[in-house]
Amino acid sequence: MDAVDCIKTRMSIRGFKKDSVPEEVLKKVIETATWSPSYKNSQPWEVMVLSGAAKEGLSGRLVELLENGAEPSPDLAAPESWPDAEQERINHLFARRKELTGIDLAAPEMIVKAKKVNFRFYGAPHAIYLFQDKSLSLWSLFDLGLFAQSLMLSAHAHGLGTVPQAFVTDYAREVKDYLDIPQSKRLVLGLSIGYPDMEAPANGFRTDRSPVTELLRFVE
Ligand SMILES: Cc1cc2nc3c(=O)[nH]c(=O)nc-3n(C[C@H](O)[C@H](O)[C@H](O)COP(=O)(O)O)c2cc1C
Repeated sequence: MDAVDCIKTRMSIRGFKKDSVPEEVLKKVIETATWSPSYKNSQPWEVMVLSGAAKEGLSGRLVELLENGAEPSPDLAAPESWPDAEQERINHLFARRKELTGIDLAAPEMIVKAKKVNFRFYGAPHAIYLFQDKSLSLWSLFDLGLFAQSLMLSAHAHGLGTVPQAFVTDYAREVKDYLDIPQSKRLVLGLSIGYPDMEAPANGFRTDRSPVTELLRFVE
């Protein structure tokens, strides 16, 4: 698969086969991601892969916190509002998803349901957490974003599916305690990873993109 195909055919995967991914393959996927560029080659990324009982235990803890009504406290706060153009795209996504799947992601009861499936890592055999030191600047956060995309593309090239998940960072303090990560670290993103189950209804939905003319200007 060439790079353009890899970028254009990657999609968020929300249904996985039960089979675990060999550690060697996961290692290769993450090693490939380390070739991402970073500010002064500082490589401001740390990665934790959870499988088996460790992943199940964390899922259970996250669901329990949600059911007990614990207030989310992610290291990166969820946006409170969006500029008009971005909000319109979110509305478009939610409307298309509702039309095609009947699921209204904006309904409060759906948010709790959606969080629970997120906390169970969509049934994936492995979960990945990306973190970095809290003292690092926004540039390093940018670098970690590049790393995350490389990781997802590398996984896709290996026949694996991923979904990036802000939701699974809701209870950052508890996740870090559970994983024995110092609180001085910034928990940035979680991802589910495994072999995609393309028969799963959630994987039948593909997002679209605004036309490039909406965001691009050539200046001479
Ligand atoms: C930073 C970030 C956070 C995200 N958080 C979640 C999440 O918590 N749960 C989820 O199911 N998808 C999450 N997504 C996936 C987006 O919904 C998805 O990337 C977007 O709709 C585009 O679809 P695609 O990935 O299939 O191209 C997140 C994506 C990014 C980049």
